[in-house]
Amino acid sequence: MIVLSTDRLSISFGALRAVDRVSLEVEEGLVFSIIGPNGAGKTTLFNVISGLYVADEGRVLIAGEDVTALPPDKLARRGLSRTFQNLQIFFRMTALENVMVGCHRHEATGLIADLLHLPAVLQQNRRSRERAMAALARVGLASMADQPAGGMSYGALKRLEIARALASEPRLLLLDEPAAGCNAVETEEIKAIIRALAADGVTVVLVEHDMRLVMNVSDCIHVLADGHTLAEGAAAEVRNNPAVIEAYLGVHGTREAALAVG
Ligand SMILES: Nc1ncnc2c1ncn2[C@@H]1O[C@H](COP(=O)(O)OP(=O)(O)OP(=O)(O)O)[C@@H](O)[C@H]1O
Ligand SMILES: [Mg+2]
Repeated sequence: MIVLSTDRLSISFGALRAVDRVSLEVEEGLVFSIIGPNGAGKTTLFNVISGLYVADEGRVLIAGEDVTALPPDKLARRGLSRTFQNLQIFFRMTALENVMVGCHRHEATGLIADLLHLPAVLQQNRRSRERAMAALARVGLASMADQPAGGMSYGALKRLEIARALASEPRLLLLDEPAAGCNAVETEEIKAIIRALAADGVTVVLVEHDMRLVMNVSDCIHVLADGHTLAEGAAAEVRNNPAVIEAYLGVHGTREAALAVG
């Protein structure tokens, strides 16, 4: 089944066409990566898909339903969640509290009920907490639940960012550079998390510059340059595509891509 598709999706900022008629189809349970040089439009594409920006043209479909221009909270109810290229962590809160911020999707009770401490609210808080703990466990941070985020290592914070996105129990997860700034060990941890999520049936759309990681985890790679699609295919095809090498891999990691063979 196609979980996510875009159909000639476009958005401009003034004269700049940041995303230019991008069409893609993401199969359920696979890891689908989007690569391309800085400024290619990867984050902007995520911003349009996740409802932060409204497309000028084209459509976004989740499981075949048109969700173009739906706001982020409505998309969350349809199973979409995302991380951000820049960490969106509250450093004074604990790891668990940071993740509970991502639990809103399931919360049904309102402010009055909250103020009155109705049993439904207490039960809901307990469920949010359980979901947040489960999300922390999925990224290997269960033992750090009560630690302030400010004291955690950079690699742990990158995993916490993923846990926050997992709290809404998405079936479609967009990751914007989850391994950026990570060392080799931290990148391996991110790779293992992505693999485990895919094995659990979560469809992962990955934007990442670490070519070794991309070539290792992706079922399909979509290459953007200047807002438009340059190529799409399995790792081996993309790695050997002359246009891709010229536009991107030449600068960003032909070596890493080659090393990732097998
Ligand atoms: N809100 C905005 N207003 C104006 N221009 C924007 C806005 N967001 C992005 N852009 C421009 O759109 C283009 C695509 O940017 P985008 O952040 O999507 O690139 P990217 O592929 O994610 O790059 P990187 O790999 O560096 O993260 C860039 O030229 C950027 O300056
Ligand atoms: Mg970006």
